[in-house]
Amino acid sequence: MPDYKYSTLAVHAGQYPDPQTGAVNVPVYLTSTFELTGIGTSKGWDYSRGGNPTRDRLEESLAALEGGRSAHVYGSGMAAISALFGSLKAGDHLICSHNVYGGTTRLLNLVIVNYGIEVEYVDLADLNALAAALKPNTKLVHVETPTNPLMQLTDIAAVCELAHKVGAQVSVDNTFLSPALQSPLALGADIVMHSTTKFLNGHSDGLGGVLVATTPEQADQFHLMQKAQGGILSPFECFLVLRGIKTLPLRMKQHEENGRAVAEFLATHAKVKKIFYPGLKSHPQYELAVRQQKGFGSMMAIELGSREAVELFLKSIKLFLNAESLGGVESLASNSATTTHASLSEERRLEIGITPGLVRLSVGIEDKDDLIADLAQALEAV
Ligand SMILES: Cc1ncc(COP(=O)(O)O)c(C=O)c1O
Repeated sequence: MPDYKYSTLAVHAGQYPDPQTGAVNVPVYLTSTFELTGIGTSKGWDYSRGGNPTRDRLEESLAALEGGRSAHVYGSGMAAISALFGSLKAGDHLICSHNVYGGTTRLLNLVIVNYGIEVEYVDLADLNALAAALKPNTKLVHVETPTNPLMQLTDIAAVCELAHKVGAQVSVDNTFLSPALQSPLALGADIVMHSTTKFLNGHSDGLGGVLVATTPEQADQFHLMQKAQGGILSPFECFLVLRGIKTLPLRMKQHEENGRAVAEFLATHAKVKKIFYPGLKSHPQYELAVRQQKGFGSMMAIELGSREAVELFLKSIKLFLNAESLGGVESLASNSATTTHASLSEERRLEIGITPGLVRLSVGIEDKDDLIADLAQALEAV
């Protein structure tokens, strides 16, 4: 692809007319298998677990959006992370942000440790702690920035510099900002991961995940994981993500505008004890957000003080929906302790700051005045 700007890539990378029919949209190849041209020869595809033309187009699009060498899509964000961590070997040391999506912790604690992989959680905001934790057998440092749900940031470039000194690779879960608002590879990261379920799809109608590779070795490995483990994304869901990506830059502009307006409203509200949003100057990592991100996005969390307050708030919202997930066009609110982070012990949740009174907000693309009015009336009830 020529050196097109971002919005052009979103519409056109991987999404050119079908060579056979001229169809403007990528056709959905609902086929499990392909007729071979001979013994061991094909027109490029033989069986859809190994490859499918619709999937190829989505992978081309995602590689272009992240500036990677190749992209590899899986049936969910967790399937993508499983393929990433599953690429390590017994005896390898894996460092993970101490504060990540609860599903990532569940995968590490209940599955990955059983493979003889040494898992260590480190507060990656503390670079001294990372330097002390890195070892000759550290193969991967996994970063989630901003974190789910507390919006803590990690300095990607600084982490890469330290990790690369011991030969470890750095993977970044870029789900909360999308490639429109953060480019981890440009900051030195080796691998980008997304739950495409969120902003990339953008319409809350399909799960998916992706690993973006920067080397031929990673590309071979991530393709092997698709083929060997089988956790691939279906052609129809690939189409849905392709459809969503076309409007990603446009949606992110509105998410950003609404996110800032909602955060500014909540920051001064008497019932909100604390707000976590890196776009506010009061956020301790505001400077890092400005330096490393291309926007602040529309994810935030607020502290309401108690589970009872959260219950009243979630019962009172009308436009915001009390639902897990994020990154769709509709605004959602959820209590992290009982949803995304329910798999952690209460002690661990409190240790990392996920209190019973915390509510995560995914601000959608509705009119911001309506969203603020909805939050205002719900906070009245608290
Ligand atoms: C930051 C982050 N990474 C990964 C995942 C997992 O994605 P999925 O639900 O598509 O498996 C989520 C899900 O909420 C998430 O928020």
